[in-house]
Amino acid sequence: MTTPSSATAAATTSDTASEPSSAPAGALVTVERPEGWWRNAVVYQIYPRSFADSNGDGTGDIPGIIAHLDHLAELGVDVIWLSPVYTSPMDDNGYDIADYSDIDPLFGTLEDMDELLAQAHRRGIKILMDLVVNHTSDEHPWFVESRQPGSAKRDWYWWRPARDGHEPGTPGAEPTNWVSAFSGPAWHWDEEAGAYYLHLFTRKQPDLNWENPEVREAVYAMMRWWVARGVDGFRMDVINFISKPTELVDAPTQDGQPLGDGFEMVANGHRLQEFLAEMNVAVGLDEHHLLTVGEMPGSTVETARTLTDRANRGLNMVFTFEHVNLDRGPRGSKFSHVPLDLVALKRNLESWQLGLAEVGWNSLYWDNHDQPRAVSRFGDDSPEHRSASAKTLASVLHMHRGTPYVYQGEELGMTNTQFAGISDYRDVEALNYHADAVGRGADPEAVLAGLASHSRDNARTPMQWDDTHQAGFTEGIPWLSVNPNYVTVNARAEVADPGSVFHHTRKLIALRHELPVVAEGRFALLLGDDPQIWALTRTLEGRTLLLVANVSSQPATVPDGAVADVSTAQLLLATHGDRRGADLEPWESRIFLLG
Ligand code: GLC
Repeated sequence: MTTPSSATAAATTSDTASEPSSAPAGALVTVERPEGWWRNAVVYQIYPRSFADSNGDGTGDIPGIIAHLDHLAELGVDVIWLSPVYTSPMDDNGYDIADYSDIDPLFGTLEDMDELLAQAHRRGIKILMDLVVNHTSDEHPWFVESRQPGSAKRDWYWWRPARDGHEPGTPGAEPTNWVSAFSGPAWHWDEEAGAYYLHLFTRKQPDLNWENPEVREAVYAMMRWWVARGVDGFRMDVINFISKPTELVDAPTQDGQPLGDGFEMVANGHRLQEFLAEMNVAVGLDEHHLLTVGEMPGSTVETARTLTDRANRGLNMVFTFEHVNLDRGPRGSKFSHVPLDLVALKRNLESWQLGLAEVGWNSLYWDNHDQPRAVSRFGDDSPEHRSASAKTLASVLHMHRGTPYVYQGEELGMTNTQFAGISDYRDVEALNYHADAVGRGADPEAVLAGLASHSRDNARTPMQWDDTHQAGFTEGIPWLSVNPNYVTVNARAEVADPGSVFHHTRKLIALRHELPVVAEGRFALLLGDDPQIWALTRTLEGRTLLLVANVSSQPATVPDGAVADVSTAQLLLATHGDRRGADLEPWESRIFLLG
C-alpha cells in the first residue's frame, strides 16, 4: 500500500492527466481536460458493488467495470463517477472509509484501479472519485489513534463529554439532541476514549473536525495523490456538512420527538466557502481543470450560486436535493410518500435554471444510488408505459442546462424492485429505520410500504446485463437480489433494439455534444402551470430548441399557440415518431430545432 504522504504532489501546471514517467498507469494515458470541458459532458455513475461481478463472489468489482467499459463508450458518456471503492468495513457500502489510498479487496487492487483509469482514458472517458471526507470509518487509523486519551489526533474528530448531570451512555446524556441520518442519536459513547463522538451517519462513520488545519491538509494531500494517479475530478459526499458550528447546541424538536435535526445545524456552515476555496487552491482543482461536484443536502439556489461562482474558486456544480424531496415527507419521515406535484417539480427545476443562468452551473439528475428508480417514481413503470416514460424523463432532464448524470441502469429504464419483507433489504438506512420505527410502535406494513417506494436498495439491485443467470451480473449469488424483470429489461435487449431507452439516451448525449444550444442555450419554461405537459425552450445565437413532453400516462393536448409552430422545424428526437400535431400520446415527447 502507498500512503498519500509518499505520493508525488500533483499541484503542477499541467492541464492534462499526463504525469511524469514514474506516474501510475492511469495517469500515463493522457486525457485532454480543456477549460470548462465539463459544460457539455455527461456523467455516468457506477455503484461498483452492483455493476458487474468478475469473480463470482456476488459483489461487483473493478475488473467487472473494465469488462463493461465498451457499454459506456457506446452510450457516449464522457465521465464515470465511481462510488467508493476504498478499503472499508462496508457499514454503509463503502461510504465509511478506512484507507483513502487503497482499494477494498472486495473490489480489487490498486493495480486494478490504475488499469481502470488507463482503459477508461483510452476510450476518452474520464473518472471522478467519490470523496467522502465529512467522516471516515471508525476503523480508519486516524480515528483509532484519536480515541486514545491524550492522542495528538484527539482533535481530529468531535469528542465531547456527556451532558451536564447525566450518566455517560444513558439515554439523554448525549452532548446534543441531534438525530443521525440513519436513526438514533448522532453521538456514541466510547468507553475507551471516555467521551462521546459525533456521527451524523452511522456509528461507524465518525465526523472529522475540519476546524483542525491538520485534518484539512491530510485530506488535500490524499486528493493530490489521487490527482497524480490520474483521476479527473471528485464527487464530494455531503460536503456542505464539513463546517460545523464550534459551539454545538440542541436542535429544535418537533412535537413529541425526542431528537432534533442536527443536519439543519451543520448544513452550509459559516466556513464552508473558505474550506472549499482552500481545498481548490491546495489541490489545484481549477489549475488541473478537474470536475468537482458537491453533494449538498439542504442547499439552496443561493448557496449553490455562491459556491459555483468561478470567481470564488469553489466547486463546478452541486447536487441539490430540493427536487427529489418533493415526493417525500420531511427528513424524520422521509419514507412517507407525498404525491408528486408535477408543477412544483417543473417550477423547482426552473428556479435552479434561472438562478444559475449567469453565474454558476447546474448538475442535472433524477437517479443515483440514494434515490429510488426514476421511472418508477416520476414515470410509469407498467409494461405499457415503462419505455416511453423512461425516454421522456431522459429527454426532459437532458434538455435542461447543466451537466446531466445518468445512474447505472437508468439508460435501460431499470425500475424499482419488489421486496417481500425486511430480510430482502441490505441498506443500513432501511434496516435501522425499520427497527427504529417498528420498535417505537409503527405499523410494520406501513413501514414496509414506505421502504418499498423510497428505499435506496431500489437503486442498488444488480445491473441487468442480459436475460441469463442473475441477469449476467454474477456467476454466484448476488449480494442483493436481481430485479425479476431482468428477463425483459436488460442491456443486451436494449442495445439490440434501435427504439430502446438505451438508444434514446445515446442520442440525447450525442445532441449535447453536437449542438452548443443544448449545452449552453438560455432556458425558458413554457406552460409552467400545466399539470401534464413539460415544455421548454433553449436559445443560443438565434437558434432555438423546443421540447414538448407529456409527462403523464393520459393523453394531453398542447393548448393553441402555447408553443412555436413546428410544421417546418427539424425534429431532432421523439418517442413516437414524426408527429407534429397538438395531441400527445401518454409519455410522448418531441425535441425540435426551430430555425
Ligand atoms: C451520501 C452518500 C450516501 C451515504 C452518505 C453518508 O449521502 O451518497 O450513500 O450513505 O452520504 O456517507
